[in-house]
Amino acid sequence: MSRINRIKGFSDLFPPESTAYVFMEETARDIFSRYGYQEIRIPILEQTELFARSIGQETDVVQKEMYTFLDRKGRSLTLRPEATAGVVRAYIESPLSSAGAVTKLFTLGPMFRYERPQKGRTRQFHQVNAEILGEDSPWSDAEVIIMLWTYLKKLGLKKLDIEINSLGCRECRPAFHQALIKYLKEINQDGLCSDCGRRAVTNPLRVLDCKVPGCREVVREAPRINQNLCGQCENHFAKVINMLTESGLKYHLNPSLVRGLDYYQRTTFEVISHDIGAQSSVAGGGRYDGLIKALGGPDLPATGFACGMERLALILEGINERPKDFYLAVLHEQAMDKALLMAQRLRENGFSGEMGFQVKSVKAQLRQANRIGVKTCLLLGIDELSKGEIQVKDMSTGVQRSVSQDDVEQALGLNLKGKNSNYLTGR
Ligand code: HAM
Repeated sequence: MSRINRIKGFSDLFPPESTAYVFMEETARDIFSRYGYQEIRIPILEQTELFARSIGQETDVVQKEMYTFLDRKGRSLTLRPEATAGVVRAYIESPLSSAGAVTKLFTLGPMFRYERPQKGRTRQFHQVNAEILGEDSPWSDAEVIIMLWTYLKKLGLKKLDIEINSLGCRECRPAFHQALIKYLKEINQDGLCSDCGRRAVTNPLRVLDCKVPGCREVVREAPRINQNLCGQCENHFAKVINMLTESGLKYHLNPSLVRGLDYYQRTTFEVISHDIGAQSSVAGGGRYDGLIKALGGPDLPATGFACGMERLALILEGINERPKDFYLAVLHEQAMDKALLMAQRLRENGFSGEMGFQVKSVKAQLRQANRIGVKTCLLLGIDELSKGEIQVKDMSTGVQRSVSQDDVEQALGLNLKGKNSNYLTGR
């Protein structure tokens, strides 16, 4: 039979990589809950209209990257390319939005974008996503950024930069838009890539952060949003920046940072790693005050971010799997029942390990114990069975002794002293 392969841009995650994902998820739960965030789980599939209306009809994500199909009744559905739109939709449908209280939510899981796969860019990728809904305070923006930084530090990541900008609001953005369109119309556009040739009219902000060298050159002298903010936006941004400075967090102001999704207003930010190649943004986010209303909810402000787990995994180091404490080698079929019950008892008493289901020579069993990296091999044969004993072999010293089956936990505990304290953290 021919083999069925996985789809291009989709990955299977095996250990130790999958262990790194567990670590990222568990650390997110630990850190975010300290700031009052609660976890929600939302569908992977949504109505296409949700993303077209939130992310923006003119964005690359909506124009070329969505996995969209018709269901059996001819309705257009899309695999979520990001989580914010779905979180906002769920929030609007829930009683939370009418209660009016500030709501802090996080969600973890796979997203789908039909992009050209390369290092740090896959078609199915995973995000850690956090949102504050119903709050417009600049201190909430600062707290979101500080929480993101705290999370990344807790993962043990160091060489990262934060870039930050303000994109203005419904009041000041339209005039800036016009100024930018005028600038792009008046200068020689030959240097623009084909995407930016189109964006120069439809979505001029995106021309500002295009990475193509020709486009960078064209926009070198373009007007910048940070010089065109209204008083309220200027004030809001100054408070965010001030707070970040107060907290000792190092950031770069980047007036070209516009992000690829249309719902942002005011504060936007990205975290960049210089160690992972062209796809260097490991996290991104910002304020999206108009989105809840645009999706049919109350006119409430909101802010948040998402980290890309594939990119974080590229720079995470030293994540260990849970070590196994024992390997239980069975030397005679009659000892199988006893061995399985003993292994079960050890796990219930807090140890982790495996037993061999095949009777094999002592040599072969010890080889297996070495292969799975245990410090202790337990051996149970017909002799031990009749005497109510078990052999305990310290794999590092080679010392082997017989102990009563009642005392295995004690013997294992002694052998493992000082080990296993850093499971999953690796440090
Ligand atoms: P985004 O910048 O589109 O923002 O994505 C956030 C992060 O997801 C990126 O910084 C990157 O690490 C990762 N990412 C995006 N596309 C891919 C891909 N094809 N392969 C691997 N990783 C990828 C958002 O999605 C917003 N919803 C963030 C947000 C939340 N803003 C406010 N709240």
